Amino acid sequence: MLAPEVADAIAAGEVIERPASVVKELVENALDAGARRISIDARGAGKTSIRVSDDGAGIPADELAVAFLRHTTSKLTKLADLITIQSFGFRGEALASIAAVADVESSSAGARLRIRAGELMEQGVGPVMPGVVVEVRDLFANVPARLKFLKSDATEVAAIKEVVSAFALLHPHVRFHLTIDSRAAVSSSGDGDRRRAIAAVYGPPVAAEMLEMVGMPLVAGMVSQPRLSRGSRDGMVLAVNGRPVSARSLVYALEECYQGRLERGRHPLAVIDIGIDPELVDVNVHPAKKEVRFRDEGAVFAALQRAVRAALDGSDPYRYRPAETEGVASTFMAGPQLTLHEAPAVVTAVETNGHATSAVLRPWTSSLH
Ligand SMILES: Nc1ncnc2c1ncn2[C@@H]1O[C@H](COP(=O)(O)OP(=O)(O)O)[C@@H](O)[C@H]1O
Ligand SMILES: [Mg+2]
Repeated sequence: MLAPEVADAIAAGEVIERPASVVKELVENALDAGARRISIDARGAGKTSIRVSDDGAGIPADELAVAFLRHTTSKLTKLADLITIQSFGFRGEALASIAAVADVESSSAGARLRIRAGELMEQGVGPVMPGVVVEVRDLFANVPARLKFLKSDATEVAAIKEVVSAFALLHPHVRFHLTIDSRAAVSSSGDGDRRRAIAAVYGPPVAAEMLEMVGMPLVAGMVSQPRLSRGSRDGMVLAVNGRPVSARSLVYALEECYQGRLERGRHPLAVIDIGIDPELVDVNVHPAKKEVRFRDEGAVFAALQRAVRAALDGSDPYRYRPAETEGVASTFMAGPQLTLHEAPAVVTAVETNGHATSAVLRPWTSSLH
């Protein structure tokens, strides 16, 4: 149990807004538990059922019920830990929140329990096997307002797929298998090869066009060749310490590297994971921990750009192809739509080498205190 002052210090907020939030929380728990295989099965757009099973450390039989209590977590005990937290979870809120709005059955280490709308219905003996199984049925059945607020089934399914895809891309060492109404939707090999993970999510042709960011100890991942682009920003998966985040500054930093390389209105594909000292990033600013605040945003920004530009350095040069410019854009844009900047290439030459990256993201020195 967290002490009240710790619980209060944790950003409050509803974690579970839609089926995809359930998937996100359960997958994060599995990753925190060191799982190498995570299977997710969703039915009825996640409203009928979501079942997540993993082969991680599991929950000791006598702690299974406790894990579903609010503010119970094995990952955080005192306020100081909040600053250095590295695991995905730390609020001890997810399982309790899910169990409050659904019919949940869970088993681990020979124990099994069922909680409906926050009430413990059954508790007993379960199968003895590695990891944890959580099945969430009738999500929001007791919260009709939430149910009504959900988007179309297709949209909710897309959101589930997006969550699993992002984790599969960011964790190539973990084997993800997502089925939607019994049909395989995402299936990664978990062999540790990022390009293969990208192939599993976007298909082999896209994977073949991705450039690896090498020699950048703190910025890992792949970015697309300029000739591969999208009309939306859907293909950008940005993460901090393996956690997908939406940070407008990072998106901007990434897109800036493509300036002059992509046609207007086109966006790169990217899987970028920034490994950063947990002390330099605050993930506790958003209930679903989707947004982060960096202590030194400029340094992160610079490290990301150095890594992306180094990767793009090996890319095929951009060529102006008038035939491919988009009609919509041209009606709004006066003057030439496309300009070929030489600047990025020049910067790249200067910044390509060097372990400067690591220095940039090192913990702040005492001069700041
Ligand atoms: N898949 C899992 N494998 C192992 N332990 C788990 C799993 N899911 C939950 N737990 C345990 O239950 C606790 C509560 O989980 P949760 O409510 O998500 O809170 P948090 O992840 O913030 O700690 C976790 O701290 C962990 O000890
Ligand atoms: Mg959790």
